[in-house]
Amino acid sequence: MSDEAGGRATRWQPGGRLTDGFGRVHTDLRVSVTDRCNLRCTYCMPIDAVFKPREELLTYEEIARVVRVAAGLGIRSVRLTGGEPLMRARLDELVRQLVAVPGIEDVAVTTNGLLLAEQSEALARAGLHRLNVSLDSLREDVFEAIARRRGLDRVLAGLAAAKAAGFATIRINAVSIRGLTEGEIVPLAEFCRREGFQLRFIEFMPLDAEACWADERVLTGRDVRAILERELGPLVRVASGDPGQPAVDFTWADGTGRVGFIDPVSTPFCDRCDRLRLTADGQFRNCLFSTTEWDVRQVLRGGDETDDVDGAIAALLDDCVRTKRAAHGIGAADFERPARAMYQIGG
Ligand code: GTP
Ligand code: 5AD
Ligand code: SF4
Repeated sequence: MSDEAGGRATRWQPGGRLTDGFGRVHTDLRVSVTDRCNLRCTYCMPIDAVFKPREELLTYEEIARVVRVAAGLGIRSVRLTGGEPLMRARLDELVRQLVAVPGIEDVAVTTNGLLLAEQSEALARAGLHRLNVSLDSLREDVFEAIARRRGLDRVLAGLAAAKAAGFATIRINAVSIRGLTEGEIVPLAEFCRREGFQLRFIEFMPLDAEACWADERVLTGRDVRAILERELGPLVRVASGDPGQPAVDFTWADGTGRVGFIDPVSTPFCDRCDRLRLTADGQFRNCLFSTTEWDVRQVLRGGDETDDVDGAIAALLDDCVRTKRAAHGIGAADFERPARAMYQIGG
């Protein structure tokens, strides 16, 4: 896409905002820093995953440059994902660089928590305030059935360390899979309420690598909520301060705790999507389900033969945004799964 983007550089207006053809303004950039992971979750990667060679990953300096350009176009929040972002050496250094970018108001990390015990202090010191930790089960056998590796104890130790490090918000992300995670719902809710973690249930999306996704395996947010209300009492809707947020949040009737539902399959939220993505190997995507990518790595590394590299990055982003589709189309007859799985895209 870079030739096209190069040709379109003149159309991009400095100071312009990242608005797509449906009027959606983009303020959030999700940056994957690695495709590597220390787990092998069935919904995200194949058991025999092959990872990108190091030289194909963007350096921290390259990522920071992209974020600076994106901030100039209205990006305000950055989420670091992977793969497992804490597998990348000195992630705290990247956090430190990104929190200092003018215009960036929020930097957050989504991690599986295995390395948090070692790193949460350094991340907090670097200026990170928000952390989302993936945890689908509190039972080692179910954890292992999903992650295909052991690790529950380390995640729990990581969560304790993150709490001690003083993170303002710690969220737990739990993917719901019919026939597998029903028994995890109530224990996770009780655990999070007790520990002061916010909990979010996420519907299983067709982004796995071994084609194990099927519509029947989607345990909907509505079903999860019904189980919670039956077992633990009523949930009360709370308004979100962020209109682009995919999650719909609730609190328990006594006002304690937060339980949210991210329901991309049963209740798509694409009409309020404000997100763009940058893969670890330097490709912009305008959607998790994007079937096209825009090669910013080659722009960063001089492949565009322009002196105005920042302008070329901005033009590429603009092009990426303008061709964004209205919605992901899961369930539609012409739905096309992206060629890359979640670990190669970024959660
Ligand atoms: P907060 O910033 O804490 O509200 O969280 P978030 O929802 O932005 O971040 P997180 O990375 O924790 O997202 C949780 C999961 O929700 C992701 O891993 C995805 O599975 C799913 N998700 C997040 N954003 C999107 C999105 O734009 N589209 C779709 N389809 N799913 C998303
Ligand atoms: N469907 C839904 N969520 C997924 N995640 C990874 N793969 C999928 C999928 N196929 C979520 C994990 C984690 C985040 C990085 O992405 O729960 O929280
Ligand atoms: Fe945005 Fe795509 Fe997610 Fe829809 S599926 S909310 S368009 S990233």
